[in-house]
Amino acid sequence: MLDLKGKKIHKQVDSIIGQSILDIALKNDIDWGFSCTRGTCARCRCIVELGHEHLAESTDEEWDRLDDEELEQGYRLACQAIVRTEGKIVVANKPYF
Ligand code: FES
Repeated sequence: MLDLKGKKIHKQVDSIIGQSILDIALKNDIDWGFSCTRGTCARCRCIVELGHEHLAESTDEEWDRLDDEELEQGYRLACQAIVRTEGKIVVANKPYF
């Protein structure tokens, strides 16, 4: 189960192993910011409130784009954060602007 908090829409949806948080948000018509889908613009930035362990490790793009402090706090780039295992995940879209 994936609990996605877009800018206005908040939905619980089925998580899909192997897909990114952004892919799943867009498939479910959640208003999630994005532009590049390659880990450079950070418009898809989000905070993982629960279930970090169900996501694949941060990618090189996330290490380049996000600060160490943000990564420690649980921020990810939704286009890079791939669901790895079943379980409850709660993620909120938190772009910089
Ligand atoms: S859409 Fe650009 S960093 Fe994710």
